Amino acid sequence: MEIKVISDSEETTMKIAEKYASGVKSPMVISLVGDLGAGKTTFTKGFAKGFGVKQTVTSPTFTIMNEYEGSQMPLYHFDMYRLSSKEEAINCGFEEYFDLSKLKGVVIVEWASNTEGLLPTLHVEIELKKLDDNKREIIIKAKGWV
Ligand SMILES: Nc1ncnc2c1ncn2[C@@H]1O[C@H](COP(=O)(O)OP(=O)(O)OP(=O)(O)O)[C@@H](O)[C@H]1O
Ligand SMILES: [Mg+2]
Repeated sequence: MEIKVISDSEETTMKIAEKYASGVKSPMVISLVGDLGAGKTTFTKGFAKGFGVKQTVTSPTFTIMNEYEGSQMPLYHFDMYRLSSKEEAINCGFEEYFDLSKLKGVVIVEWASNTEGLLPTLHVEIELKKLDDNKREIIIKAKGWV
């Protein structure tokens, strides 16, 4: 399954993410893929809104993970930009968040490519491609469901 949509503004990306969040069931890991400034954190902000998060969502670049309370369950927002391996993520105590048998809630992760092998086989990949300053292609793929 693959869904492709074009967003022509930051607000539209947030609306798409907000709508997408309403259909997501726990436990779920979502990997956000895309270059610096592609819109991964912007997508997460919209997603959090649709998930019922009332707190302000900020990029966890330095903290690696921020936890938010959604209307039904928690949302864990990771940014692996500053990590360089799966082992480093495990040393930080993050392994259990990527174990679908233990996870209660939804994990959304930026730069999962830096901690390769940490994602569960079953996850959703959302790629953001920068087409121009304000235009992004958003591609949503279910991974691991062969
Ligand atoms: N259609 C769009 N969707 C999302 N962001 C957009 C769009 N058009 C412009 N932007 C701008 O692109 C930037 C996206 O920044 P954001 O922090 O979300 O990127 P990121 O992928 O999380 O980057 P990083 O890898 O540094 O964490 C914002 O400044 C936003 O205003
Ligand atoms: Mg970001």
